[in-house]
Parts: sequence; C-alpha cells; structure tokens
Amino acid sequence: MIRKGIILAGGLGTRLHPLTLATSKQLLPVYDKPLIYYPLTALMLGGIREYLIITAPGEADQFRRLLGDGRKWGIELSYAVQDRPGGIAEAFLIGKDYLAGHPSALVLGDNIFYGTNLRAVLHEAAAQVAGATVFASWVDDPERYGVIEFDATHQPVRIVEKPKAPKSNWAVTGIYFYDGRASDVVRELKPSARGELEITDLNQWYLTRGELQVVRFGRGYAWLDAGTHDSLLEASQFIHVVEKRQGLKIACPEEVAFVQGFIDAEQLLRLAEPMKGTGYGQYLIRQAQQPGT
Ligand code: TTP
Repeated sequence: MIRKGIILAGGLGTRLHPLTLATSKQLLPVYDKPLIYYPLTALMLGGIREYLIITAPGEADQFRRLLGDGRKWGIELSYAVQDRPGGIAEAFLIGKDYLAGHPSALVLGDNIFYGTNLRAVLHEAAAQVAGATVFASWVDDPERYGVIEFDATHQPVRIVEKPKAPKSNWAVTGIYFYDGRASDVVRELKPSARGELEITDLNQWYLTRGELQVVRFGRGYAWLDAGTHDSLLEASQFIHVVEKRQGLKIACPEEVAFVQGFIDAEQLLRLAEPMKGTGYGQYLIRQAQQPGT
C-alpha cells in the first residue's frame, strides 16, 4: 500500500495573471473551497495519509495557514519549496529524502478529478507498489498534454509530451503512482528543451520496461485543470452545479477524512464549529450526524 503522497503546488501561474501576482494558483477558490482541496482529497480517497506539499518560494506560509500540519484532518503534512518551476518530475528530487525510497503518489495542485467509483479506482492504484500507474483521459486538445500512443491491440507504446501531431486524444492526467524507484530514475533524467524535468520521461521509463499501467478514465469521469481564467471559472461552475443538484460536496477534506476513518464525528463537529454560520459549516454538521445525506 502506498503511504506517501506529494502535492506539487509550485509554479508561477502566469496564465492566471493578475490573479496569481500575490498568491498561489492552488489557493484560489473553486466555487466554495481552495483549489488545493481537490487534489488533496483525491489522494485522501486513495487512502494516503502522509503528504509533502511543494510550494513556490514565499508561498509556504499561506499553505501552512490553511492546512497546518494536517492533524485536524487526521493526516500528516510536511512542506518543501521548489525554487523555480523546473518541471513536474523535479518533485521526486525535492521529495527524495522525504520518500526515502518508498513508493508514492504525485498529484498536481491544480487538477480536479470527479467521477463514480473514484475512491475504488484510486485505492487500487495505491495498493500497487511495483511499477507505475497513470490515468488517461480523452481530450479534444491533446497537443497541450503528454499523449499516449496505442498499438492495434490498445496497448500503450509511447508517451509524447505536447506533440504537434498527436497520435491519439488520450492525455496523461495529473495523478500518478510510482514504486520506490522514481527519485533515482528522475536523477538520471536530462532536462528537456524547455529546461524542465519532464514527468513524461519518467512515465516513458516505466513504459519502456513494460511496467507502466495506463488506466483510462471513461465517460462518467471529469478531469479538469484550473490553469486559465476560463478553466478556473468552468471548474467553479461545474462544482457548483453538481454540488447543488446532489446536495453533497465534492472534495470536502473534513468529510473525506471522516468517511475514510481518519477523524471521528466529534472531531468533524469541532471543525464545523468556527464555520457554523456558513453553508459549509452546516454541511459538516449534517455529515457528522447523518453521513452521506
Ligand atoms: P503548469 O500549469 O504547467 O504551470 P504553472 O502552474 O506555473 O502555470 P503557468 O503555465 O500559467 O505559468 O503547472 C501544472 C501544475 O503543476 C500546477 O499545479 C503547478 C505545478 N508545477 C509546479 O509546482 N512546478 C513545476 O515546475 C511545474 C512545471 C508545475
């Protein structure tokens, strides 16, 4: 069982200027909660309780104010800084000592995952400690992503980063599971032409050895990133519509911690107390009293 997770929440967020001139993209609101709650709860649903949060320089304090050491949610948070955006795979160099050769999950701080059975799907990936697992999603603009090429028998044969002529519409999403070799593999990678350590190169390393599992998110799943003004607004609208219609929240860490058994009902009520004047606080109280309603 994978026990450690990394949340990569650095980056410059230049496409969101001026929103991100004074704060991190991952702290911006997506409807009723900060963006980072979404990737964090995805890994919590996978059963992971120990996290390294990687932030840009000067932003760690804001994350600490929001999340603390995680104890309130029954998880353990550590923090590290990425001096400049050196690529997604750099997470495994920054996190090398933290991981100490253990298998791990990585999630991008601006990615949102939603769908039926997500918990079971992520649990299964976290249960695998040999090789690597990535998740692919169909997109209509594959040239923006790492794209998976399949052979005639639907087996993945290659992953290409931001291809000009994509061989498929299947993009690699921002949630990844690796065995204990990831940091050592990344140490041998060379930066790409854009000067970044590419997560695609790490994934390709596993694929070449026949040790990469590609799981496709089919219909019934939504994968969103909130990196531009339009996608940030659309993500808020999506969460708003689904939450309102279902009466249940998406990516509420207090609720997820409770459902996962990381905290008890008493602690959930304690967390609700300072927010009880809000719909969010009332929701937590309801979950403590009648879970899932
Ligand atoms: P990007 O959207 O590629 O980069 P960014 O967040 O800096 O935004 P922009 O392109 O507008 O300047 O990053 C995807 C996610 O990964 C995001 O949550 C930030 C994170 N990230 C890092 O923390 N460090 C990095 O070196 C890179 C490349 C990304």
